[in-house]
Order: sequence, then C-alpha cells, then structure tokens
Amino acid sequence: MILITCDTHCYYENINKQIRHAEDDLGVTVDCVIHLGDFGIYRTHLSHYFKRKGRRFSRPVYFIEGNHEDFDELPWLIKKYSDYFTHLPRASVNEIEGYRFLALGGSGYMDSMVTQKGAIITDHQINACLKVPPKDVDIIITHDCPIGIGMPNTKGMEHYGETGFPRSDELAPKLQPKLWLFGHHHKWHEYEDDHTRYFGLASSWKGFGLLDKNYEFRFVKYTIPYPQEKQSLIMKLLTRLKIIQPN
Ligand SMILES: [Fe+2]
Repeated sequence: MILITCDTHCYYENINKQIRHAEDDLGVTVDCVIHLGDFGIYRTHLSHYFKRKGRRFSRPVYFIEGNHEDFDELPWLIKKYSDYFTHLPRASVNEIEGYRFLALGGSGYMDSMVTQKGAIITDHQINACLKVPPKDVDIIITHDCPIGIGMPNTKGMEHYGETGFPRSDELAPKLQPKLWLFGHHHKWHEYEDDHTRYFGLASSWKGFGLLDKNYEFRFVKYTIPYPQEKQSLIMKLLTRLKIIQPN
C-alpha cells in the first residue's frame, strides 16, 4: 500500500503520524509514501528535524516539489538528505510498488508574493512529459491540479482565473493515465473522465490517500492538530493573506 500525502510545509512529523494512523488504527501495511509537494525543502527546517533531532521517516518517502520549497538550494539539499527521502524529478517516470509514476512537481503562477521562479512548470518540462510513451505511464503525480477538472479556486483568489497549470490539459489526452494525483489546493477533490480518475488531496493536517493494488485509491480523513504556537513565518503570512485557511 502506498500512502499519498502532500503539503507538509516543513511539518515533516505529520508523515510519521499519518503512517502510524494507517498502520495502527486502520490496520494497513504502508510500503512507502509519495509526497505531492510543498514538502518544505528549507535548509534550517531540514537540519533541525533530521540532523539536530535525529528523526527519520518510518517508511521510504518519495517526493515531488511544490511551490513552497527553497528552489535556490533544492539541488544540493536533495543530495544532502538523500538518505532520508528521495526526489522524483520533473518529467521522470519512476516505478514504485509496481506502478509507473510520471512526476511533474511545481505549479502554475499563483501566490506571486511567495512563488519563486523555480516553482513554475516550463514549456520544456511539459514537452518532455509529452514525449514519454503513453504505455510507460500508469499514474501522473503533480503538485498543482490540471486544468478542466472543476477544482474550485481558493476563496478570494477567483481573480487568478481557472485553477490548473498551463498546458496541463495536454497531458491526460496524450498519456491517458489511469490516475492523476495532486495536492497544492488543500482541498479534497474528485473528478473522472473517459480514461482518468483525478484525486486532489487536502493538506497533511487533514488526512492522506491510500493507493492499493489495481488502482484502488481512497481518501483517509484524519486530523492532526495544527501547532498554532509554532506556526512558521511563511504559514502565518499565507494565512494572513488568505492564501491558505487555518485548520
Ligand atoms: Fe502549493
């Protein structure tokens, strides 16, 4: 069973809490975790959790990047912490637990005050995805959602227009994945078309997904109390700007 999570925003321990809930309370075996971005790749947070506190994840963790990572330092931080988690590069196909996942981290241009250039998905990366033979892709994993699946905008952000990153609507018709999993919007969302079932996950404080054999996927709603007193500056800013909603 693969546990699917996203949007930990530096609260890495949420992942271990989700694994414990899945195994101890739900009785499932978690083979590994795939994180759909906004992991929180920031030097000081990683150092504090993994080096100073000596913590590790209890299962192998793979991740794609979101828009809230330090893109200037991402390449060397991925290498430095490669014993703790594994990065799935954009436009790469990765076989995990028998599924072939096409990874495409990043997002569309959205919250301009805190979005770095490195977060934006480029034409080159979309083209690289479109060159992958459809027979090689089972599941697409992205941070942002695709266009055209009815994903509602965050309240107050409607002026940004339709949700989804540019040219994302070219990928499913060409690659025809069975599943497309994404995070970023901090909302549960489901949609289905002729070939693909789409699942958007809420943040790691609200739950996770479980992916079993035969493309069986389900949401698990599980609340982790949000540590208000330890809110990072970026989370306080995002909450104040109404980019995210407090739990
Ligand atoms: Fe995000």
